[in-house]
Amino acid sequence: MTIAANKLIDGKLIAQTIQDEMAVEVADMLKSSTRAPHLAAVLVGNDGGSLTYVNAKVNACERVGFASTLHHLDEWTTEEELLKVVEQLNQNPEVDGFIVQLPLPKHINENRIIEAISPAKDVDGFHPVNVGRMALNLPCYLPATPSGILQLLERSGVTTSGKHCVVIGRSNIVGSPISILLARNESIGNCTVTLCHSKTADIAYHTRQADIIVMAIGKPGFLKADMVKEGAVIIDVGTTRVDAPGTKLGWRLKGDVDFDGVAPLASRITPVPGGVGPMTITGLLQNTLLAAKKAIYK
Ligand code: GUN
Repeated sequence: MTIAANKLIDGKLIAQTIQDEMAVEVADMLKSSTRAPHLAAVLVGNDGGSLTYVNAKVNACERVGFASTLHHLDEWTTEEELLKVVEQLNQNPEVDGFIVQLPLPKHINENRIIEAISPAKDVDGFHPVNVGRMALNLPCYLPATPSGILQLLERSGVTTSGKHCVVIGRSNIVGSPISILLARNESIGNCTVTLCHSKTADIAYHTRQADIIVMAIGKPGFLKADMVKEGAVIIDVGTTRVDAPGTKLGWRLKGDVDFDGVAPLASRITPVPGGVGPMTITGLLQNTLLAAKKAIYK
């Protein structure tokens, strides 16, 4: 299906533009600094999706001139062993920021790991200190995907003030924070936000009222044309692997939106892939640059 180019929100292009701007800033920094900003990533186990995402983050570091290190740990790494790696990264003055890729294996308590990360190096913005500061609109690392969504809206010229935004999904990583951010008194904000989740009685009732819909539930093709008001802006965070026989990988990424059905109705829409995904990585790089500059925590 062909969709008018001015309808698509091209996350790949916007991410590339921001990363090019960052590369210039990093090159400039290196004239007076002894080392490049440094992001470390910790991956536990061999989940295919996580491996792909972490590799994409490490490769993006290279593109903007950051140093990066990947700590790939065995699936049976214990919680105590992982806490030791986190503590080493907290203490390492050569590392500006780091992430622990989620989900972690079941035997590890995710909250315990996140709380062990120094808030000053928590460039995912997952630590309770950063989440609390975000909710209070204080300087902090914004979580990467919600931050990427705000920048997509801004750079696409979407007006949010006074609009009704319906967010589907209440995860700690996307749904909950984006609902807080879009309600803030900020230029990309000032929305009236409805947050729907698995216990919402009639999701379609809410989405049909929405000027902006953010889909973040990981159910491929969930949002159908009859759930959408004409002219709505659609942001699709879903990235589920679905079978794609005959392709090289045998799978492809599918979003939470039935793109072919919804796109004709939407005023703007993000594709999957090439929408929110590249912006998530951009948000992480931006936080790492803030960490290297000690812009949030001195
Ligand atoms: N798993 C899915 N998204 C993310 C993310 O943004 N950061 C980390 N650390 N893990 C994730």
